[in-house]
Amino acid sequence: MRTIIEPFRIKVVEPIRMTTRDERLHLLREAGHNVFLLRSEDVLLDLLTDSGTSAMSAEQWAGMMRGDESYAGSPSYYRFEEAVREVFGFQYVIPTHQGRAAERILFQTLCSPGDMVPSNTHFDTTRANVEAVGARAVDLLVPEGLRPSDVHPFKGNMDVARLEALIQEEGVDRIPLVMLTMTNNSGGGQPVSMANVRAVAEVCRSHGIPLYVDACRFAENAYLIKLREEGFEDRSVREIALEIFSWADGCTMSAKKDGLANIGGFVATRDEELARQQRNLLILTEGFPTYGGLAGRDLEAIAIGLREVLEEDYLEYRLASVRYLGEAIAAGGVPIVQPPGGHAVYIDAAAFLPHVTPLELPGQTLVAELYLEGGIRGVEVGTVMFGRRDPETGQESAAPMELVRLALPRRVYTQSHVDYMVEAILAFAQRRERVGGFRFTYQAPVLRHFTARFEPLYSLA
Ligand code: F0G
Repeated sequence: MRTIIEPFRIKVVEPIRMTTRDERLHLLREAGHNVFLLRSEDVLLDLLTDSGTSAMSAEQWAGMMRGDESYAGSPSYYRFEEAVREVFGFQYVIPTHQGRAAERILFQTLCSPGDMVPSNTHFDTTRANVEAVGARAVDLLVPEGLRPSDVHPFKGNMDVARLEALIQEEGVDRIPLVMLTMTNNSGGGQPVSMANVRAVAEVCRSHGIPLYVDACRFAENAYLIKLREEGFEDRSVREIALEIFSWADGCTMSAKKDGLANIGGFVATRDEELARQQRNLLILTEGFPTYGGLAGRDLEAIAIGLREVLEEDYLEYRLASVRYLGEAIAAGGVPIVQPPGGHAVYIDAAAFLPHVTPLELPGQTLVAELYLEGGIRGVEVGTVMFGRRDPETGQESAAPMELVRLALPRRVYTQSHVDYMVEAILAFAQRRERVGGFRFTYQAPVLRHFTARFEPLYSLA
């Protein structure tokens, strides 16, 4: 059969509410034109994130009932630890309430002020946690990763020559670890190839620098390796994932993505002494090492989710829905990051709205307009998220790309939801020349996109 279907049937439904354009205009104004500040009930199709928004399976809900809430030594923890060891191959597993807590613990135990942490591209919380310990987060993405319209199978790869050059220039003592974000969320959800994982690992090993994977979307990355990289077509996704991690010294994980859970994460390592230090930090803020800020039932849901996410029928459907959305809007003339990524379609707002300059926030403009058009909530990944305001001069600087991410929650929306998204985006495309830009009316000094407020530089009505 050529038709790829949702490989599940629906047992519980959650109604979603239609709103009128006038209502949305009012709600958007009330929210300072920042869709993070909308109430989710006022959103029809919520593509803000694929994080913590998965629909859990009947098995996961059954596991929730089995959850054992003992403070110490819960069997739920041991089932979680066993699943992580089986899927990732790391010996020491430390649960955390989500990915950024794992990042904080990793960087606080490995980095000192003045250090550098290279990555293909740091996600925003990763960058913020590196900077919070006084170190510098350095992005070494291959050049094609920064050119949205270039078609290349592995635009998440790290530039290995630049990594080697950075190590030569700075010296190994300044670089306590190297990271690979798989898939590269900030750069279009693009995968890293196995060849690149190996090459980066070899450079790291030759200098004695540990390699850590930001593994949030490891299953999508492994499946894209199977689809796109020579020599992997007949390997199982499970084997591919294990091989990726065999090249690494550890990982951080947000189980809110490819853990198919609504909350949770972990940091894992092969280094016993490091794990001991990390557990001590964990106790300070997250909780005892056999629950790490999670309930026993969450640990159960993650243990089951980590195995379900590797089922290839699921991954085939997952990647097909993202590709279907991306190809349909691209065919209608909307410029997207090519090829469509693992968990989301990224519209190139700079190319889509060329008359809106980067400092007039084209991504923010598009996000506001998609909400007005169809009640769809996406997220800006451009100057609002990654640009900077100089604290002394107030001078704004733009981000390297102006993207809008439409992230698909896992197992939540059906094909007709995706058809509606396509229709709304193409309807907006018809009138895109008539929109202007936005400007900030409020911004916080760090992670400003969450709480910023804006005003339009044109009439929205
Ligand atoms: N690393 C990557 C690549 C991520 O995408 C995220 C979260 C994190 C780390 C942090 O994990 O949220 O559990 O603390 N990304 C979400 C998103 C927020 O919408 O892409 P967390």
